[in-house]
Amino acid sequence: MPRPFYVTTPIYYVNDRPHIGHAYTTIAADLLTRFYRLAGREAFFLTGTDEHGTKVAEAAQAAGLSEQAFCDRTVETFAAAWKKLDIEYNYFIRTTSERHKLAVLKLLDAMRAAKTDDGQDVVYSDYYEGLYCTGCEKFLTEKDLVNGQCPFHKRPPEKLREKNYFFRLTAFAQRIKRQIESGELVILPEERRNEVLGLIDQDLPDFSLSRERVKWGIPLSFDKSQVAYVWVDALSNYISGIGYGDDPASFTKWWDEAEVVHLMGKEILKFHCFYWPAMLMAAGVKLPNVMFLHGWFTVDGEKMSKSLGNMIDPNDMVAKFGPDGARYLLLTQYPFGIDGDVQAKRFVTQYNSDLANDLGNLVSRVVKMIMADFGGRLPQPVRELEGLEQLMLLAEELPESAYGHIKHFRITNAISDSLNLVRATNKFFNDTTPWLLGKQGQKAKQGAILYACCELIRIVSIMLYPAMPRKMREIRGVFGLDDGSLTLEHARRFFDLTPGSPVKLEQSIFPRIDTPFETGNVSAQANLTPASAALATEGLVDITEFQKADLRVAKVIAAERVTGTTKLLKLQIDLGSEKRQIVAGVAEQYSPERITGMKIIVVTNLKPAVIRGIESRGMLLAAKAGGNLVLLTPDGDLAPGAKVS
Ligand code: MSP
Repeated sequence: MPRPFYVTTPIYYVNDRPHIGHAYTTIAADLLTRFYRLAGREAFFLTGTDEHGTKVAEAAQAAGLSEQAFCDRTVETFAAAWKKLDIEYNYFIRTTSERHKLAVLKLLDAMRAAKTDDGQDVVYSDYYEGLYCTGCEKFLTEKDLVNGQCPFHKRPPEKLREKNYFFRLTAFAQRIKRQIESGELVILPEERRNEVLGLIDQDLPDFSLSRERVKWGIPLSFDKSQVAYVWVDALSNYISGIGYGDDPASFTKWWDEAEVVHLMGKEILKFHCFYWPAMLMAAGVKLPNVMFLHGWFTVDGEKMSKSLGNMIDPNDMVAKFGPDGARYLLLTQYPFGIDGDVQAKRFVTQYNSDLANDLGNLVSRVVKMIMADFGGRLPQPVRELEGLEQLMLLAEELPESAYGHIKHFRITNAISDSLNLVRATNKFFNDTTPWLLGKQGQKAKQGAILYACCELIRIVSIMLYPAMPRKMREIRGVFGLDDGSLTLEHARRFFDLTPGSPVKLEQSIFPRIDTPFETGNVSAQANLTPASAALATEGLVDITEFQKADLRVAKVIAAERVTGTTKLLKLQIDLGSEKRQIVAGVAEQYSPERITGMKIIVVTNLKPAVIRGIESRGMLLAAKAGGNLVLLTPDGDLAPGAKVS
């Protein structure tokens, strides 16, 4: 029996809405799982949510909810998005679940019982010293301070010490290095491996395993005044989700005996490639086999950020392109592993060209001709057909070459190989002109060409199934095929379809899209549970909807009246990281002189508008009662760019 395959994604923070960054890793993991299953390997796919820590507690407080209620609600947006994208995970791990807590405590106990090679305790108690703001109830870093003060509470933080349990990381550095160098622990791509080796050589200090002042976390069994450090808590999901704490048989199968692959973005390298292996070593648990750290992408050349308003909701992509189109477009933008750009502006063109034209049209043309000229029955094959041998060679190589790509995480290559076969099949169809052959009385040859095309489409329906499961099943349905023949083994065959079997296409597989892709189409309602949807009908909005608006403090640096109107001012504003122009209808209440220098609140992520021929990129907030209009301003001296929440 081949070794089982176990793949994980990072668990995503619940204080964020799912965006295409999260979707990217999750779709990749789903694709790998499906591919290994095609190849006959058992596979387990774990994803989930990271629900503890101060940020979540703060978000819950802002929403007026208990931490748990907040997590329960926002976690649904992830589960719903994954469902829409046809993500089929085996288990969804939540760090607030009992199952997870059990595993974290077990792992902490095992680490606490461990000794280093020279007989020291791996876990030791010491003091953490830092700058603590009693207003925020958290430690701040020098970077957080403005003029030496907490920017929110306008007072200098106190130097405070708190007791923490520390993990003796330094004792494991060389062992981890040896594991990486010997290939026991594979870190990919190469560049990331070198980065980890460089980190190890920098002698990173020991890290805290626990926090005393953080309240929203898992209390330690041996000291209830402390909760597990968020990263210790989060990393443990990879073993808690397969039964480390509660299901030894499952854990043995999916951890000890499996090939364990952690997929993630490159920004969380230190925790995964250094802390996590050290924790496992200390606890006497086998290390994962592969860490694959893919790159980060920009969207249309810009960093994806709330303030730029270019965060793409995967639900919007599904609404426009269907789950398969969304999966395909996200996975094919640039090679998996490196940094790249997601060209959202080209989504529609790419969908139409690759999916509607190349693949969808091929299926339509071939199947419609069989329906029209062969009574909807698959014609007889012929081996000796001009151009077929070459095509069969290409098809024969495809399963092996694509599987090879998958084993090396070259997801983009695996997909493009199949698209190349589609294009070669289109060329074969065009070159052999089956539509003329029928009319020229060469029906057998026409039928043989169509049969060959169907075979090639069938092979592609297997090879592209991991990327586009729903549509590939739809294509297979055209030939009456079910999942029984959805294996790599079947993709290696030719002349597998039964001549005479019915072939039927009711609607085009990838209908063309003729309208541009705009984000922000999907109403929040689509993601809500029935209970929360009921609330929304009473006129309430979901907190995640509200959080979509990016409100910032801005300073007005210049203002002038817009000619031809008494109401409008053209303002130049400073948002800290950038300067912008907005047009505001406040000229009757605020003269340019009065408003210049004021700090105001601006919605920064509105789509740009042109008002009286002047571009406006944002909207200021003002309150109105009767004829009186006043600007909203911060009650305190905040730097431009400060977030309003
Ligand atoms: N909760 C931690 C992970 C703990 S795992 C033990 C976390 N969560 S996160 O919500 O911030 O998700 C980060 C992950 O989302 C990245 O590692 C990557 O998988 C994905 N991405 C988020 N934005 C991305 C891009 N712009 N580009 C590519 N992937 C991105 O960190």
